[in-house]
Amino acid sequence: MAKKTSQFVCQNCGTVYPRWAGKCDSCGEWNTIVEENLPQADSPTSTGGKGGRKIEFADLRGAPEIVFRLKSNIAELDRVCGGGLVPGSVILVGGDPGIGKSTLLLQAVANLSKGVNKIGAPTRCVYISGEESVDQVRLRAMRLGLAEANVDLASTANIRDIVATLDVPDAPDIVVIDSIQTMYTDTLDSSPGTVGQVRAAGHELIRLAKRRNFAIFLVGHVTKEGTLAGPRVLEHMVDTVLYFEGDRGHHFRILRSVKNRFGATDEIGVFEMTELGLREVPNPSALFLAERRGNVAGSCVYAGIEGSRPMLVEIQALVASQNGPAPRRAVVGWDSNRLAMILAVLEARCGISLSNKDIYLNVAGGLKVTEPACDMAVATAIVSALTQKPIPADMVIFGEVGLSGEIRAVPQPDLRLKEASKLGFERALIPPSGTEKKVKNDSIRITHVGHLKTLMDTFH
Ligand code: TYD
Ligand code: MG
Repeated sequence: MAKKTSQFVCQNCGTVYPRWAGKCDSCGEWNTIVEENLPQADSPTSTGGKGGRKIEFADLRGAPEIVFRLKSNIAELDRVCGGGLVPGSVILVGGDPGIGKSTLLLQAVANLSKGVNKIGAPTRCVYISGEESVDQVRLRAMRLGLAEANVDLASTANIRDIVATLDVPDAPDIVVIDSIQTMYTDTLDSSPGTVGQVRAAGHELIRLAKRRNFAIFLVGHVTKEGTLAGPRVLEHMVDTVLYFEGDRGHHFRILRSVKNRFGATDEIGVFEMTELGLREVPNPSALFLAERRGNVAGSCVYAGIEGSRPMLVEIQALVASQNGPAPRRAVVGWDSNRLAMILAVLEARCGISLSNKDIYLNVAGGLKVTEPACDMAVATAIVSALTQKPIPADMVIFGEVGLSGEIRAVPQPDLRLKEASKLGFERALIPPSGTEKKVKNDSIRITHVGHLKTLMDTFH
């Protein structure tokens, strides 16, 4: 009998099958089973070190080479990238179609081209579009007032051509590929946008960027489920993953770093989409609170932290009598599981029953809040909406709510209060000061809240 030379392995969970199948029974994923060669008995996996070269170990203490960064002078972008672009790094920019990725990157390269590279020469930028013709990109540049920028444009989707052009000693400093889903290598039969093509094209471009030491932006469209097409194959291959988010109904956009080998993650940059392209928003709190009306029941201001910067946002709640067989809970901009938790705590620990009410919760302006520090603001907004007692317009709130109703400390209270006082707030409800140093702010009257019940009693 012929000896087996291959096996079929699920690329998601690692389960081994004797033959190919469309679906992995173990993890339930489709199209993840791939044929892999089995190691042969007469060629053990261990090479015994033959033919290998000796590795030179280095000392951990050695001084690192100071990393040079190319600056776009778009402060919001530079910060999200960890202070600028590192030559040879690969940045994946994901986002929904039409959110403004091409606009952002065109503005970025136009700005970057005004700077200098490591050796002091003008930064050379290349923008390759697989989606738009050169004329379309020119038109956009004209509209953005960037027609004079020194950027080399090309419209192609063939990886072989791109590599042949850029794999030269005088390679550019920055390359934009818009988008990775349109690129294809002719060594594969599958069509552009498939997992295989995205992975192969990404791999080629990443190797090229490392070899020629240029920074490369790969634009990736996000599929409906919110992941980049080509099941996250690119995310682990690249150095930095940025998501460009926003609601198409709102004019501002948020660039969020979810992975960065050269800087902090969870950093955000805020932009506003205007007729003249994306504009930086250096003071997002003011923007998020711009349309707030004071003294409305069900609205309160939460002092949050996004990445390294404080940000004030308005939390709005609406409580209405149940209108249907089951109570409705609709959440925009916050986690619905956390809302369920807050409602349970309000009911079990504070005696506030909401089981026969429809509840709507909204983070105004389209921002997504992920911090648990928002719990107390959400609880307050809901109770205020229920009792129709407004929360003072000059008050900010932050604090995490535990399952027994206790209010827990959150990181960086001082920074949150500083931002609030900058915007003219005069009162704050914050967690009790624990063992750590006392929270101080001269222009804000601070009330420490120990338990959700004491806070809720003020509404009755
Ligand atoms: P685009 O950058 O093409 O999105 P993506 O590359 O993510 O698909 O942005 C397209 C949207 O941006 C489009 O709906 C129009 C809008 N837009 C403006 O509002 N102002 C502008 O100056 C530009 C260039 C685009
Ligand atoms: Mg585009």
